[in-house]
Amino acid sequence: MKKVVLAYSGGLDTSCIVKWLDERGYEVICFCADLGQGLGSGEDLAAIERRALVAGASKVYIKDLQDEFVGDFVIPAIKANAIYEGKYLLATALGRPLIAKYLVEIAHKENADAVAHGCTGKGNDQVRLEVTAGILDPKLEILAPVRDWEFKSREEEIEYARRHKIPIDVTKKKPYSIDRNIWGISIEAGVLEDLEQEPPEDTYMITNGPAKQPGTAKYVEIYFEKGIPKKIDGKTMKLKNLISYLNKVGGQHGVGRMDLVENRLVGIKSREIYEAPGATILYTAHKELESVVLDRELMHFKDIVSLKYSDLIYNGLWYSDLKKALDGFVNSTQRYVTGSIKLKLFKGSCVPVGRKSKNSLYKKELSTYGKEDKFNQKLAEGFIRIWGMPYQR
Ligand code: ARG
Repeated sequence: MKKVVLAYSGGLDTSCIVKWLDERGYEVICFCADLGQGLGSGEDLAAIERRALVAGASKVYIKDLQDEFVGDFVIPAIKANAIYEGKYLLATALGRPLIAKYLVEIAHKENADAVAHGCTGKGNDQVRLEVTAGILDPKLEILAPVRDWEFKSREEEIEYARRHKIPIDVTKKKPYSIDRNIWGISIEAGVLEDLEQEPPEDTYMITNGPAKQPGTAKYVEIYFEKGIPKKIDGKTMKLKNLISYLNKVGGQHGVGRMDLVENRLVGIKSREIYEAPGATILYTAHKELESVVLDRELMHFKDIVSLKYSDLIYNGLWYSDLKKALDGFVNSTQRYVTGSIKLKLFKGSCVPVGRKSKNSLYKKELSTYGKEDKFNQKLAEGFIRIWGMPYQR
């Protein structure tokens, strides 16, 4: 009997996969990763485990990976200012390599022959999971039942689940496809497939629309140490809690909504709604701090690296050598990135309003238009003549 470790979410698709693989002679071990998608209560976790077992799993692993996710995936993304196509802070994309890492680890521990996932054949996530698993252990077989199976609609899957007495809550109408973790939420499908339509307010799960946003601004001050957020308003916090807190206050003020028609790796354009209040605030603050402490050449070159780094994350190449090499560059830039940024959250906007750093390169005596001016304006003339010389014919 072949053994397979399945990335299990507890939803309809992956529950049907358990049974489907079981019917094809596999022993199925389920692995559910908690990346801060709000599994929260022990009740949810117990229900997920029970569902997997009823569907035919021989064993269920549920692991709280939030600290590892934040420490090993989100921190590098913050340092690199990782953002895809100017809008997507990569929450889903950052979670996949970690899930794949544990799929492989559990497969080794259980002596399994294969790993499996519930992604369709049209998205990026299949690529991220399979490329990562392939890098970590090229000998493991990879199964993607949703690409192969006979079901053509959600209704057929529900019927299959019913027939096999898998406890699925089908009363919950699910107008969207949603992926969520502590770094953000990705929402697609349903009415969102019409590019001309504004997303209905019920699309959003953690950010308030204008009607519910407070009428007064909220200020937050974030302190970074070598590029890593450490304190909010002077209070040291564990990064996981710091992000959760910013998700909460940012969400109240409607910060971090994004509506993006993006280029998927498989060549399709798709429309996705993102909610990432904490990530938006930290991205904005981190970039602002860099603008104060990095010199011009380093800063501009880092922007180029940032683009490439984001593509690597999006395209499933987290464990590539190029990503590792770029980490070397990014980390070396972060030694100056210590200081505080104060931001104003108001009616969906997140604007830096104060900056403080012992590594600041800002020299008021040089930039001032006041009488304390120390900039020798006479030197400008020679500088400009030599600077412009190559362009005169
Ligand atoms: N488009 C995003 C990405 O490729 C999110 C994918 C998952 N989205 C979803 N709604 N299930 O990273």
